[in-house]
Amino acid sequence: MKEQLMKIKEKALEALLLAKDLSEIESVKNQYLSKKGEISLLMGELRNLDPSERPAFGQMVNQLKVEVEQALYDKKSILEEEALLASLKNEKIDVTLPGVKLYEGSIHPLNQVIEDVEDFFIGLGYEVAEGPELENDHYNFEMMNLDKDHPARAMQDTFYTDETHLLRTHTSPVQARTMLAKKGQPLRIICPGKVYRRDDDDPTHSHQFMQIEGLVIDHHIQFANLKDVLLKMAQHLFGKERMIRLRPSYFPFTEPSVEVDVSYVKKDGSIGYIEVLGAGQVHPNVLKMGGYDPHEFQGFAFGIGVERIAILKYAIDDIRHFYQNDLRFLDQFKGVNR
Ligand code: DAH
Repeated sequence: MKEQLMKIKEKALEALLLAKDLSEIESVKNQYLSKKGEISLLMGELRNLDPSERPAFGQMVNQLKVEVEQALYDKKSILEEEALLASLKNEKIDVTLPGVKLYEGSIHPLNQVIEDVEDFFIGLGYEVAEGPELENDHYNFEMMNLDKDHPARAMQDTFYTDETHLLRTHTSPVQARTMLAKKGQPLRIICPGKVYRRDDDDPTHSHQFMQIEGLVIDHHIQFANLKDVLLKMAQHLFGKERMIRLRPSYFPFTEPSVEVDVSYVKKDGSIGYIEVLGAGQVHPNVLKMGGYDPHEFQGFAFGIGVERIAILKYAIDDIRHFYQNDLRFLDQFKGVNR
């Protein structure tokens, strides 16, 4: 009996020793330790023994079972560790593989122009003001000296949402809002933002575009101050060699009014001028409505076309490029001005 036990033990341990993978270990387990396995069957032999021998034999079988189980467990651990090491080796990270490229965006050319203009005016002590795009008729027109029947309204016809509200046609209403907020104190502001007009879109027109409004109110403000600041702005944006040209014009909210052109060198080498903004001295009616005594205060104002600046600066042939989000267009402005 004892010999039989020893034989089973040897066979089992040898099978384990030779086992090359987990499934072979599993079959050793089946062969010896399952319900009908060789070791379990030995227990059945107990019945055939003399009762006095049974306890000792039972103990030996149990001992055998424990030893085989332990050996099986040990071998399983070894194989599992080997498998882990092998898979770690295979899955080694290749640090020389190229990484996933992150697409790097850039600041929109119109925002680059706005930031550039802001930098210039902040340096002169101006504040940046804001106003709503859905504006009240009162601020957009009336406080800008365009009453209900004013013919100049037709030039800026726009999108009304009801009797009194519209998408602002220019950033000028921010002049009125700022004057009221400053309650008669001197002020210097610029206000960049979107404006809307009922234009048909073509290479030079867009129903939505951007402006930067400027307003200065103080004592002793003269037209020369306006001309000075606009020349310096043009030279800041385009270069020291640039000149500006003022042409008489008409805006209901300024008197006198001008249109301002910036010089550029034409293909044939001669000097040309391109209009970039409207400006003038603040009309006494506008000052009065804003709470300033025109006998005490003067002011100047201007409205810059942001697209026009960008078109001139970057030689762009169609205003619609700015709004189409075509990366082939936008990517060209990466790092410009930075
Ligand atoms: N609001 C005018 C426009 O949209 C531009 C403008 C002209 C603004 C003269 C001004 C100004 O402040 O003084 O056409």
